Amino acid sequence: MKALIIFSSRDGQTREIASCIANHLKEVCECDVFDIQHVTDLDWQQYDRVLIGASIRYGHFHPMVSQFVKKHLAALQQRVGGFFSVNLTARKAEKRSPQTNAYTRKFLLHSPWEPDCCAVFAGALRYPQYGFFDRIMIQLIMRMTGGETDASKEVEYTDWQQVARFAHEFAELPGKMQ
Ligand SMILES: Cc1cc2nc3c(=O)[nH]c(=O)nc-3n(C[C@H](O)[C@H](O)[C@H](O)COP(=O)(O)O)c2cc1C
Repeated sequence: MKALIIFSSRDGQTREIASCIANHLKEVCECDVFDIQHVTDLDWQQYDRVLIGASIRYGHFHPMVSQFVKKHLAALQQRVGGFFSVNLTARKAEKRSPQTNAYTRKFLLHSPWEPDCCAVFAGALRYPQYGFFDRIMIQLIMRMTGGETDASKEVEYTDWQQVARFAHEFAELPGKMQ
C-alpha cells in the first residue's frame, strides 16, 4: 500500500496538516506528499489510495483543485480516496463536518469524484502575515462572525487530534485494487 497526498495551501496550514497526516500514514505505509501547484507527471501505478486537502480563500478552493479532480478522475475513482478542507468557519464545532461546512458540502455536491472519507479542519488565523487588504477583510469577517479581531494575533484553531483520527480512518479504509 502506498498513499498519495495532494494539497492546496496558500499560507501553509493545509501543508502542515498534510504533512501531519503523512507522518501518521508512514507508520503503516509509504506516502508521498505533493503541492498541487508543483505536481506535473504522476505515476499513478504506485498508489492505491489518494488524499486531497485544500484550504478556502474568500469562499473558494483554489481552481486547481477542481481541475486536478477533472484531469485525474479515472485514476481517483479506481483508488481509495479521501478529501479534507481547511477553513476558519470550521473553528466553530458545528461547522466542522462535511454536511455542516458549506464550502465542503458544495464541493462534494458538484464534484464528479466521490471520496470514501472526508473531513473539515479548522485552519489558522495569522494576521501579522497578511497584507493590508487581506488583514482588513479578515478582521471584518471576524467581527461579523464573533471571531478574533486583534490584528497582532496568530491563532491556530486546528484540532490535531481530529487530524490524527482522520489519518487513521483513511489508512484503515479497505483497498479497492487487486
Ligand atoms: C485572504 C484570506 C481569505 C480567507 N477566506 C476565508 C473564507 O472565505 N472562509 C473561511 O472559512 N476561511 C477563510 N480564510 C481562512 C483560511 O481558510 C485559513 O486561514 C486556512 O488556515 C488557510 O489555509 P492555508 O494556509 O493552507 O491556505 C481566509 C484566509 C485568508 C488569508
